[in-house]
Formats: sequence, C-alpha cells, structure tokens
Amino acid sequence: MKEYVLKVSRSGPFRWSKYQIKAEETTTIVELLEEVESTVDPTLTYRHSCHHGSCGTCACIINGKEALACRTTVGALGTEEITVEPLRSFPREGDLVAHLGSMIRSMPAAGSYVREDECNRREGAVFQRFEDCIECGCCMSACPVGGDFIGPAPLAMMNRELQKGSKLQEDIRSKALSRSGAPSCRDHFACSRACPSYVYPGRHIQELKKLER
Ligand code: FES
Repeated sequence: MKEYVLKVSRSGPFRWSKYQIKAEETTTIVELLEEVESTVDPTLTYRHSCHHGSCGTCACIINGKEALACRTTVGALGTEEITVEPLRSFPREGDLVAHLGSMIRSMPAAGSYVREDECNRREGAVFQRFEDCIECGCCMSACPVGGDFIGPAPLAMMNRELQKGSKLQEDIRSKALSRSGAPSCRDHFACSRACPSYVYPGRHIQELKKLER
C-alpha cells in the first residue's frame, strides 16, 4: 500500500478538496472516490454504475486527460497526487457529474444499438453485438472545437447509421453535413485519442466529410 493525495474538483462554489488515502497500485480511481465518500466525505458527488468500462458513466478528467475512472488504476497514473475533474464542454451537475443531455439529444433518434456480427454472419449464425460507443462523453470533452459543433460522438453514430442503411438516411445525412456537423471538425483527432472504447470518432467524421452534400 502507498499513500496518495486525491485532489478533487468540487462545485458550488468551485474549490479543490484534497484527501490523503492509502491504495494499492491496482486500485482504481472510482474505488478511491468510493472510499472517500464512504469514510471521509459523504457529500462528494460522482457517477458510476458497471465498474468495468461498459456503461460510460464514470468518465471524468484524471490528471488532465479524459478517462474512465473505473478503468484507471493509481499504478497506471504513476503520480502521488491524482487530480480528478468533471468532463469539459458539458454543464456541471455536481462535483464530478457532467450533464450529457446535449450529446444524447444530438444522436440520431432512431439509432439502433445492435448490428449483425459480420464474422458470425459469414458462418451462417445470427449473432448480434453492441455498438462500441458507450456514450461516456470523453470525446466531446476532449474536442477543442466547441460552439455549436454537434461533436464527435453523435457524428460517429450518424456515420454508423448511414453505413447500416438507416431508414432516416436523408435526415441524418443533412444533419451530419450541416454547418454544425462534420464540416466544422478541424481535424484535431483529440476525440479518437480520448475514446476509451476504440470507436475512433475522428475516422467516422473523416468518412462523413467525404460524402457529397
Ligand atoms: S462505471 Fe461503467 S464505465 Fe466506469
């Protein structure tokens, strides 16, 4: 066990709280937050659900980078002081809680979350698997464009819907290629670097840019 300083951004009013805490190298940041909440400061607000990188709810900024708190260990960070902040680009609802409503509302309404597994389809079996995006908001937070840009996660989902031949092709296409859609992307690819789920939203946006209006 080693001693760490967990420095957490707090809201209402903004301040930093520092907690001395002992942890193993394999301890995750969400486990540190749970420890603080249950033993030191029950007012700390943060979000998590699955604890294994599937639900996306624990996304925040850890040591300055977007990450899933449940998949980030103190050992992997390699620092004795660990800072945790809420995602950028979203309204803040609590200490580490960002309101992702704007991202969810920009996603195609008829988005289907499952698709046929191409490999198994070739072998004649009908398997389905989930889309890779876990809607954590990391890519939206990392994107430096801002303004009324729709953002990487909804645009990646729009591209997937177009690839799947969605019934709403025309509607999705016109949103994706509108002024606030793919043409506003400035090719930073921060979204692809931040995505913990290997969606590579930047690649999807590049594919949208190649579509004719
Ligand atoms: S708690 Fe579900 S992704 Fe971290």
